[in-house]
Amino acid sequence: MKPNVAIIGLGYVGVPTAIAMAKAGMNVTGIDIDAKRVSQLNACKSFINEIKDDELKAVRGNFRATTDWQELKKCSVILIAVPTPLTKNKTPDTSAIESAAENISKNFKKGSLVVLKSSTYPGTTEELLKPILEKSGFRAGKDFDLAFAPERIDPGNKTHKLEDVPKVVGGINKKSTKRAAEFFGLFLNKIHTVSSPRAAEMSKIYENVFRLVNVSLVNELKMLSDKMGIDFWEVIEAAKTKPYGFMPFYPGPGIGGHCIPIDPFYLSWKAREINFFTHFIDLAAKVNESMPHTIVTKIIWALNKRKKTVAGSKILVLGVAYKKDVDDPRESPAIEIIWDLLKKSGKVLYNDPFISKIKINGKKMLSKPLNRALVKGADCVVILADHSVYDYKMIAQNAKLVIDTRNAIKIKSQKIIK
Ligand SMILES: NC(=O)c1ccc[n+]([C@@H]2O[C@H](COP(=O)([O-])OP(=O)(O)OC[C@H]3O[C@@H](n4cnc5c(N)ncnc54)[C@H](O)[C@@H]3O)[C@@H](O)[C@H]2O)c1
Repeated sequence: MKPNVAIIGLGYVGVPTAIAMAKAGMNVTGIDIDAKRVSQLNACKSFINEIKDDELKAVRGNFRATTDWQELKKCSVILIAVPTPLTKNKTPDTSAIESAAENISKNFKKGSLVVLKSSTYPGTTEELLKPILEKSGFRAGKDFDLAFAPERIDPGNKTHKLEDVPKVVGGINKKSTKRAAEFFGLFLNKIHTVSSPRAAEMSKIYENVFRLVNVSLVNELKMLSDKMGIDFWEVIEAAKTKPYGFMPFYPGPGIGGHCIPIDPFYLSWKAREINFFTHFIDLAAKVNESMPHTIVTKIIWALNKRKKTVAGSKILVLGVAYKKDVDDPRESPAIEIIWDLLKKSGKVLYNDPFISKIKINGKKMLSKPLNRALVKGADCVVILADHSVYDYKMIAQNAKLVIDTRNAIKIKSQKIIK
């Protein structure tokens, strides 16, 4: 029999997971603290660009959202997919995991399987989650099963479907691992088990550190190539012809999103507990965080060469999402770049087909409709997210000056700076 499943946290991870489980025939209850989001989902209105209302309608019979934690009493499997951001001082903010765990401990039934999916530091499942769940009086491993199974979803990726991405699973004991692996096997095609939640937690952070370090490396090499007068985009195309031992990463205005710029700090924070310093993470983070400044400097130079300054210039930013084809501006370098240009008295406008409004340090900005006149009227167009829907030919033809941080425009021209 298919289990009744609860998924806690209905965001970019929770909603697609709920849909996949409901499609596999499970009864899915989504729990969230955001009542507006819950009603929207129950009305089959998606707030995620990639998920169409019809997908929610198709699983209406099997998926309901609620704010009522008592619904957990009906479920035998509970997945946790709540946010794991950073505090202002770049330390882990695990408050959502803690508060979800408190609510679970008051409402779950004996014999449940609880699985944490949120990205976090090694040790979270056993050191933080388990003691809170045990406030229920149930013992982990005896009265309930407990595992960590990281989420690997890649918004905007049309090649790899959620069902096809292997799921890493690590339980607190063999029974928990086996049960969690069997559960995910009900709707995912490949499961890879590891010996502990810590190994699973570390595998997720390793994946994200790998990207952070490599993207920071190409960004640094791009800066050097610029100074040496070498087209680094051409270099990447050449290097990636090597059939082994190399994989390409691409420069940009800095990494954003909810994972890669954040999760590595969870690990460096945890490492300090045992007097270990994560040099690579800190170095890569430093390069990444300097990228918005590097892009602004490029804008300043390009304008100055045309006897203009940022102050008073009309600057059109294209794409404020943290990457191509997604509707998520979290941690997007665009926010810092726009704020810096505004501070320098630039007249900044933006367009993003997926993000109609954005807050820049408390100031609300609305996306302007993109057309020839808007591009023509700008002193400088800055491409930060290379959305597929943009007409790059039109942009190249009509712009006076383009700073193309993503190599979106393939033609070479004096006015297009990469
Ligand atoms: N977004 C991604 O691409 C992605 C990929 C892999 C892993 N992750 C990880 O998955 C986790 C969830 O990320 P997301 O992008 O889905 O976040 P999100 O912000 O899109 O959604 C989280 C949801 O959890 C809800 N929530 C917050 N606190 C809660 C609480 N205490 N109880 C119940 N609900 C609560 C929020 O209202 C929101 O609806 C994070 O740890 C993230 O790092 C995200």
